[in-house]
Amino acid sequence: MTITISVGSGKGGTGKSMVIANLAMLLAKAGRRVCVIDLDVGGADIHILYGLFEPDRTLTDFLTRKTENISDLIHTLNFYGVQLIPGTGDTLHTANMTFQEKKRLLRSLSTIDTDVLLIDVGAGTNYHALDFFMYADIQICVTSPEPTAIMDFYTFLQLATIRKALGSFLSMGDVGRTLRQTKFDSLSQVFEIAESIQEGSREKAQLALNNFNPLLVVNKVGSGAKINLLKLRKLASKYLGIYLPELGEIPYDEIVDEALRAYMPVAEFAPDCPAAQALSNTSEKLGKVIDLYVKKRS
Ligand SMILES: Nc1ncnc2c1ncn2[C@@H]1O[C@H](COP(=O)(O)OP(=O)(O)OP(=O)(O)O)[C@@H](O)[C@H]1O
Ligand SMILES: [Mg+2]
Repeated sequence: MTITISVGSGKGGTGKSMVIANLAMLLAKAGRRVCVIDLDVGGADIHILYGLFEPDRTLTDFLTRKTENISDLIHTLNFYGVQLIPGTGDTLHTANMTFQEKKRLLRSLSTIDTDVLLIDVGAGTNYHALDFFMYADIQICVTSPEPTAIMDFYTFLQLATIRKALGSFLSMGDVGRTLRQTKFDSLSQVFEIAESIQEGSREKAQLALNNFNPLLVVNKVGSGAKINLLKLRKLASKYLGIYLPELGEIPYDEIVDEALRAYMPVAEFAPDCPAAQALSNTSEKLGKVIDLYVKKRS
């Protein structure tokens, strides 16, 4: 049974790819079969973090139908056997992906034979990022403490929640049709309009959101700005109805950039540095979340 985990943020540069590269490696080191897929539409670069410079097979081969089997694109890395499907350098093609192409891609993800599939959805709030994010069983958000990152993170969460709520109506004739043609600024607006068309819709959407509890990773902590986690949690709970459990807090650490220049995950490059220690704690916690999820599902 594969557990899929998506990682998103809103703002760029918060450390998603760094966190994914390290968590994937640490989970693999702990004995799990792990595959990373780089669905970052804007700038796929996880392969570089592992020192794989010019991959001969990438997601482009799947999108251009050079192959129908996404598993043909897997590279097995020297970091405890982590598997990687490198992203496409052909950003234009991905950005213009049609709904059908996206469905084909998402369908193909379920054919990958692994225990944990980690998805880098990239930055931004475009539909691709939101859909890739919401596709997964478990969601992780990586934010940094600057106010701009927090604001973008909140917007990302809000749009993801709206998209999830809308998804629950797609099969409902009138409600689905009206909602598809409306633009929304807030979740309560979605609920109100849905309920006004058909009684009971609000409850249906709220039910769909019950399982949406993105795990929070705060990265680059101590780099200056302070995060007001409590306030963020209150906002998310009051306006989006979601709870944000904390998965980890990773300090700002200059060794992370040193590891980047050595093309190695920092947890392997300098396992005792503060960032690596925090990543190790985070991966242990994530391991427990995965086990709980597996237990719940079976
Ligand atoms: N804890 C940290 N301490 C110091 N530097 C960090 C830390 N985390 C990430 N960085 C640095 O921040 C930069 C951005 O990291 P990364 O590429 O992982 O972010 P990203 O969220 O994937 O970016 P993008 O949205 O562009 O894909 C890199 O130079 C990375 O080395
Ligand atoms: Mg990235």
